[in-house]
Amino acid sequence: MREKLEKIKLESTTELENVNTLQQLEELRIKYLGKKGELTQVLRGMGALSTEERPIVGQFANEIRDYINEKIEHTEYCLKRRELENRLRNEFIDVTMPSKKKELGNKHPITKVLDEVKEIFVGMGFSIVEGPEIEKVYYNFDALNHNKFHPARDMQDTFYITEDLLLRTQTSPVQVRTMEKMSPPIRIIAPGRVYRADEIDATHSPMFHQIEGLVIDKGITMANLKGTLDVFAKKLYGDNVKTKFRPHHFPFTEPSAEVDCSCVACSGAGCRVCKGSGWIEVLGAGMVHPNVLRNCGIDPEVYSGFAFGMGLDRIVMLKYDIDDLRLMFENDKRFLSQF
Ligand code: PHE
Repeated sequence: MREKLEKIKLESTTELENVNTLQQLEELRIKYLGKKGELTQVLRGMGALSTEERPIVGQFANEIRDYINEKIEHTEYCLKRRELENRLRNEFIDVTMPSKKKELGNKHPITKVLDEVKEIFVGMGFSIVEGPEIEKVYYNFDALNHNKFHPARDMQDTFYITEDLLLRTQTSPVQVRTMEKMSPPIRIIAPGRVYRADEIDATHSPMFHQIEGLVIDKGITMANLKGTLDVFAKKLYGDNVKTKFRPHHFPFTEPSAEVDCSCVACSGAGCRVCKGSGWIEVLGAGMVHPNVLRNCGIDPEVYSGFAFGMGLDRIVMLKYDIDDLRLMFENDKRFLSQF
């Protein structure tokens, strides 16, 4: 029996010294000290011993139990400490390390200029409205007095979705939507994306931005249109900028004009930006055609109005001297972070 106890002591010592986890430790505790454990088994067999032997072996067995107990406690303490040290090492934060920089974004140049344009028009009493980019053929063409054979309807210029649905080619359909919903006086601008089946190059993109303007009231004349756009150009580009109206044709305005600004780069002297002419085309405009007013349930005998549509991207390019439209849609941070 003594030998058995010696063996238990020896074995438990090596096993306990090789324990790596608290789980393993618990298994060993059960193995030696549990109800069916090896040491318990020995103690149970003590009845077979002689009266002289019993107290001696009993004492020895108790010593071994205390020894194993102590060894388990010590191992548990070591394992827990090791675990804590590991955790502390893993969670260590070096406060002297340089921090990760949070990069702050900035507004896209188109958004910046659009904000400016909005502010100018809001200052003149306009409100801002929006319309859908997926538009009915009716709003994009028919209601705007485009006849059935107008070249802009051609498949080559327009992205059709179905026979009645398209990606709007201009913001002008918002004129119609607005006049259907509101009664005069109306004073709105409607910025947004428009789409045309153009090849991509330095001045063309199948998606670009326009800002539509519409004013309807009693007694609105071409003079109001010219005054409004002249104030707008001066607020945007500076007091020295001049505007010029050239006769043009749009189906939904009559008379119609294309409006030029004196070149912001050379003040009209002629340069690379204005291709030597001293003028830059910035928008189309005109007096709202009586047919359009009628299509929207507004009596052209009582009301009149003007409309204009400008290309926002071009205004941005002029303002920041950007020479390639593609830069604005490539999302290259090196470009975008300059504004
Ligand atoms: N919608 C026209 C275009 O895209 C511009 C325009 C708007 C002209 C309003 C006159 C009045 O070219």
